[in-house]
Amino acid sequence: MFWIRGFLLLFLGSSTGLQGEVPSECFTVNGADYRGAQNHTSPDGRGQPCLYWNQTQKHAYNTAKYPNGEWGLGSHNACRNPDGDVQPWCYVLETEEGIYWKYCDIPSCHMPGYIGCFLDSGNPPALSGSSGTSSKLTIQVCIRYCRKRGYKFAGVEAGCACFCGSEGDLRWARPAGAVECDQVCFGKASELCGGDGRIGVYDVSVGACQGNFSAPSGVIYSPDFPDDYGPDSNCSWVLRPPGSSAVELRFQIFEIRDPNDRLELQDGHSRRLLAQFDGHHRPGPGLLLPTDVLVLSFRSDPLLQAQGFAVAYRATPAAMMSKKSFKTRLEENQRLPESSESRSRLLGEV
Ligand SMILES: *[C@@H]1O[C@H](CO)[C@@H](O)[C@H](O)[C@H]1NC(C)=O
Ligand SMILES: *[C@@H]1O[C@H](CO)[C@@H](O)[C@H](O)[C@H]1NC(C)=O
Ligand SMILES: *[C@@H]1O[C@H](CO)[C@@H](O)[C@H](O)[C@H]1NC(C)=O
Ligand SMILES: *[C@@H]1O[C@H](CO)[C@@H](O)[C@H](O)[C@H]1NC(C)=O
Repeated sequence: MFWIRGFLLLFLGSSTGLQGEVPSECFTVNGADYRGAQNHTSPDGRGQPCLYWNQTQKHAYNTAKYPNGEWGLGSHNACRNPDGDVQPWCYVLETEEGIYWKYCDIPSCHMPGYIGCFLDSGNPPALSGSSGTSSKLTIQVCIRYCRKRGYKFAGVEAGCACFCGSEGDLRWARPAGAVECDQVCFGKASELCGGDGRIGVYDVSVGACQGNFSAPSGVIYSPDFPDDYGPDSNCSWVLRPPGSSAVELRFQIFEIRDPNDRLELQDGHSRRLLAQFDGHHRPGPGLLLPTDVLVLSFRSDPLLQAQGFAVAYRATPAAMMSKKSFKTRLEENQRLPESSESRSRLLGEV
């Protein structure tokens, strides 16, 4: 059980000293999954102190109303995002113009692939490639626009503008505070699209329908993430982390409701199916797959789309693994929480 417990600690993103191995504490754009400990509106004890969620009865969110840990609320004063806002926030004592809450600037709470918030004077533009505006802008609309044109970065600004850029552009970009990119996207109220003179920059590989991953760790997002995946998707990603004999997967997000929308994991050599998940078969938090080349494929039908998935992978070095431990760990995977119906179906022999 040790491995699983260690795994769950990672999964919960707590400050266990394992942070270096976790790509980020947040996998959603709006930090709804943040469960960290920051209890001031700015990091390192700067900013205003947060009120305890068990002392905010006069406000909408408090532990009297939500006693079961909903959205990570509890007898603590850490920043949370219980209401689907654009980022974690907390109630504060000091009120300015009747505002009794503030967004938290949490450096660790960025989804992988989000490069950050930068100043953009427009002269010259922070990202120098193609650009456009849209009244229906979402983060993925901009990412797709830039990916199609062969750029590496997509930047959203002022809620409706999209700029593309390459590696060289960012060398000169001046970082801005995370909470300065606080403008809601015109096309989706739960996403942030930069700010006034502030550009929020993403790697265009987020939400791509294919990819070759050769780094020792990383994150794969479903097609069109952070938007919902589209109908009739047919995407695949190849993980080939160097020097590994197994790949560890952790699902940070799994939002698939349709039983016909399916994620398959295959051995890249034999094409043997190792596991598959769909709207009725959800993965447990952790999986260890005994292969050095893993292929993920995702297919959706025309009905019932959803946000999809975010899955973090990590290579496990050959030396650390014996055949026996694979077996034990896969068996443990099958005993992870949730009802047996909703668990992973692990196929084939170990
Ligand atoms: C914030 O959290 C730290 C430890 O995480 C604690 O030492 C400090 O007292 C807390 N501050 C407030 C205002 O609760
Ligand atoms: C809220 O929780 C904190 C930490 O457990 C505790 O010290 C405090 O007394 C609680 N406040 C109320 C009003 O229950
Ligand atoms: C991924 O790698 C394979 C084999 O190395 C190659 O054939 C393919 O073109 C690559 N795809 C992309 C998108 O880079
Ligand atoms: C999905 O794409 C693969 C190639 O990438 C192709 O072989 C397969 O037939 C496609 N499946 C569907 C249902 O279109």
